[in-house]
Amino acid sequence: MTNDRMTWGLQGDAERQRALGAIATPSDLVNFMVSLAAPSRPRVRVLEPACGDAPFLSAFAERYGSLHELVGVDIDPAAVEQARRRIPSATILEADFLLWQPSEPFDLIIGNPPYGIIGDASHYPIHVFKERKRLYKRRFQTWRGKFNIYGAFIEHAVRLLRPDGRLVFVVPAT
Ligand SMILES: C[S@@+](CC[C@H](N)C(=O)[O-])C[C@H]1O[C@@H](n2cnc3c(N)ncnc32)[C@H](O)[C@@H]1O
Repeated sequence: MTNDRMTWGLQGDAERQRALGAIATPSDLVNFMVSLAAPSRPRVRVLEPACGDAPFLSAFAERYGSLHELVGVDIDPAAVEQARRRIPSATILEADFLLWQPSEPFDLIIGNPPYGIIGDASHYPIHVFKERKRLYKRRFQTWRGKFNIYGAFIEHAVRLLRPDGRLVFVVPAT
């Protein structure tokens, strides 16, 4: 357990994954979203935030070839390990995406961020310590009231795109 999102004394994998909003995206949906994201140049920089085992990077490489620069980020070390095994040519980083700052922007950001209201483990589905929540609140202009974590993922992803870049996320109807 290497970061403070992970020090709730959570027991098994299932409990830890629930607290991180981890849900596997159905492969039909992954393929549909990847079909909307055809690269505009021979080599593009692609990011999958909250990548889990990196289904979007994997489907992107399968459809459009492996010449592209593929980057995945996840906060869960077990997911990072799985993603590295699944797609060894990609760069997979263990980090809190909401606090992560890459040195270069991306042409495409694609994926399925976590959903849920952020707060302490006794009341909210997405568990974070107060200090981390305070950091998030300071960082995100769109943060209002009982904020859903996917809103912060959208705001941060938009900031990490090139001016002509594209964002393809699946989020709840809210
Ligand atoms: C909805 S799942 C999506 C997993 C994968 N992209 C897929 O589509 O199957 C959300 C993922 O977000 C990760 N996660 C949750 N909070 C995060 C954060 N602050 N930064 C990075 N990853 C996070 C979880 O560990 C989990 O793997």
